[in-house]
Amino acid sequence: MASPIHKPKIMLNKSAIRNPQSAMMWSRPLVLAVAAMTVVCVIGIALAASGPQPASALKPQMSQEVFKNVQVLTGIPVDEFMGTMGLFSAALSMCCGECHDNEHWEVDTPRKRTARKMAQMVQAINKTNFNGRQVVTCWTCHRNRDRPVVTPTLDTVYGEAMLEPDDILPAAAGMPSADSIFDKYIQALGGAARLASLTAYVAKGTSTGYVSGGLPAEFYAKAPDQRTTIVHTANGDIVRAFDGRDGSIMTPLTAVKDYDFTGGELEGVRLDARMAFPGRIKEFLTNWRVNHPTTIDGREVNVVQGSGASGLVATFYFDKETGLLNRMVRYANSAMGRVPTQTDYADYRPVAGVMMPFRWTFSWLDGRDRVVLTDIQPNVPIDAAKFARPVPRAR
Ligand code: HEC
Ligand code: HEC
Repeated sequence: MASPIHKPKIMLNKSAIRNPQSAMMWSRPLVLAVAAMTVVCVIGIALAASGPQPASALKPQMSQEVFKNVQVLTGIPVDEFMGTMGLFSAALSMCCGECHDNEHWEVDTPRKRTARKMAQMVQAINKTNFNGRQVVTCWTCHRNRDRPVVTPTLDTVYGEAMLEPDDILPAAAGMPSADSIFDKYIQALGGAARLASLTAYVAKGTSTGYVSGGLPAEFYAKAPDQRTTIVHTANGDIVRAFDGRDGSIMTPLTAVKDYDFTGGELEGVRLDARMAFPGRIKEFLTNWRVNHPTTIDGREVNVVQGSGASGLVATFYFDKETGLLNRMVRYANSAMGRVPTQTDYADYRPVAGVMMPFRWTFSWLDGRDRVVLTDIQPNVPIDAAKFARPVPRAR
């Protein structure tokens, strides 16, 4: 049996038609150009500075401590809370400002009230019917629109199939072993010895995200798992930093200007860092399972999924012909369902005998960044401060 195939959904966004404001949707690549012009979706405010925050060794900062009017999504760390906001926006194809008064996030607009009730409804549905398993989410009903479709559209029923893989993939019978797929990957990258000899790099290039045109970007990585990405924008740097233990993000134009990663998201950031030196990636996750091959951009790919700490799940799509990695999707749990992050790799070229992607696209619920590298300097010394939290916090 092939992976679950679903028919295409109608991509029409009702609210965009009803109201030109909605063209400023959040996290929809199609409209990011519009969003960049208006910037409404990415303009946020600095919430009251919340003071020194403990790193992962200490207690994470919780939603109800940082925010003013949280009634349902309490008891979760700030990064997870922001993940739920991303899931709301993605499910309803809405910009933050379509539920919020952007200057005053705590104010309850009518739509925000509806959303809160919906969040309670979702919790109740899962609790009452599914033993608390998070199988129903906003996406289950909404699928890119403010009001869910009620009746099957016959064109959808009989139209061309669209692939919508499940998050959690079982091992399928008759597949090649995960080991053989990883062995081919390691060989394609240049072999284990070459990979082991690459222990750090500094890369430069451009990143195109919300703002059209390539923004200057820098990437620092040190084996086994330190990694920092810096994108220079007119409004300040966007920095993702992971020092091997703690990870955080700093974004100048959002509701929360900097916050730490926790739980499955922190493990996901660690995985991203490990992917800079992928020679030992097989050891990082466990319970590897190989599902049915599929196709990405016309390329046949092997599909391998593994599980990590704190609920992390990651799916790897290896090109059947070249053996190289074309895509990785990782998931972190949140109070409102799994938060996905996807990286698409392309344009592999040799650097110090190791094949490295010179282009990748990093997609998360807060946007999609297309990175093009111009230069990679292998095995250069990197100051430890590069991997530290950009906004220092007391421990
Ligand atoms: C579909 C409606 C909806 C969308 C879209 C939405 N939110 Fe929210 N937001 C809510 C609800 C509901 C709450 C309150 C949750 C609760 O009471 O537990 C909330 C609370 C918040 C808070 C806490 C404010 C405070 O101090 O109490 C912040 C910050 C926030 N949202 C940011 C965002 C950002 C940033 C986006 C876009 C990425 C976004 N939201 C998108 C519905 C939405
Ligand atoms: C079981 C299906 C279902 C789920 C799950 C669901 N919704 Fe809804 N939602 C609906 C339906 C149906 C409507 C339209 C109701 C109407 O037309 O009166 C709606 C309407 C809304 C609206 C009002 C949209 C508008 O017209 O302004 C918001 C906001 C909303 N949902 C948010 C959410 C959020 C956030 C989640 C996840 C926490 C969620 N919903 C989960 C079924 C669902």
